Amino acid sequence: MKFSHAHILSCVLSEIARMEKTLGSGQRLRILDTGCGHGGLIADALLALDEYFEGRGVEIYGFEVQEHGAGRQRYWDDLNETLYSRFPDSDWSDRIRVASSSEDWPFDDGFFDLVMSNQVLEHVEGLEGFFAQQSRVLKPGGLAIHHFPTVESLVDPHSGVPFGHWSRSDVCRGRNLRVFSRLGIGKYENYRVRRGHSIDQFVDEFVDYLRQFTFFRTLHTVESLSKSAGFATFARYNVALARRWVDEAEDVWPYCGRNEDTWFARVLSRFASVTLVCEK
Ligand SMILES: C[S@@+](CC[C@H](N)C(=O)[O-])C[C@H]1O[C@@H](n2cnc3c(N)ncnc32)[C@H](O)[C@@H]1O
Repeated sequence: MKFSHAHILSCVLSEIARMEKTLGSGQRLRILDTGCGHGGLIADALLALDEYFEGRGVEIYGFEVQEHGAGRQRYWDDLNETLYSRFPDSDWSDRIRVASSSEDWPFDDGFFDLVMSNQVLEHVEGLEGFFAQQSRVLKPGGLAIHHFPTVESLVDPHSGVPFGHWSRSDVCRGRNLRVFSRLGIGKYENYRVRRGHSIDQFVDEFVDYLRQFTFFRTLHTVESLSKSAGFATFARYNVALARRWVDEAEDVWPYCGRNEDTWFARVLSRFASVTLVCEK
């Protein structure tokens, strides 16, 4: 399982344990992976949570927006491949839903106990609308867990290039991507070997991608927007994530303690994605 998936699912287990203290235990759990991409987190969640809750009835849904990769056929082929190949007996046609980013999420009010996302918030153009939809589809007492990079990050996680996401113009962005790629820093070598990219192709692809599809914000801005939508908002489990790295642990388990670790999240945000919990 991907490291980030194991971390997010450990956060999910920890938060469910807390919710059950207030909401009661044993009921079916409905979880939404928003911005589910190729479905990898959904697949891992189904296996890990089913095993943990021993057939209690965990339903996992996915949501994607048309404007991003989800508008392309290959995206769907990959998503179907991930889910139907691993879970051929499930009907995914109802579980994975798509809408335009300007529309409401295609789910009823109060449908979910929990919303999660991995590497999505930095791709959301209208984060106010996103949090409003999150609030609408969550039950009272429900919560969301988001794992995402912020603008404080020294390295753009997409291209692997330092400061790649900081440049304001395409020219600066292109220059930056080219210089670091020539120095052997970032993902260019990987793209060259695996996809046959020239340096120009790599630079052009990422200049376009960063301009069109990324909307990096500070951690503080994301926290403020979540609070404005009515969520009690906490940076949590960031210390637990760092411990996981040190231990090279890939298992899923409920983290103990749920202390806020905003101070640590601020440090971590320079180097890696951070985890934020929004409680309705
Ligand atoms: C880097 S991908 C991450 C995909 C997946 N979560 C993963 O971990 O592999 C970012 C995803 O965010 C989605 N996205 C962008 N804007 C969104 C929005 N407003 N609401 C939900 N998802 C969105 C994109 O379509 C894309 O699939």
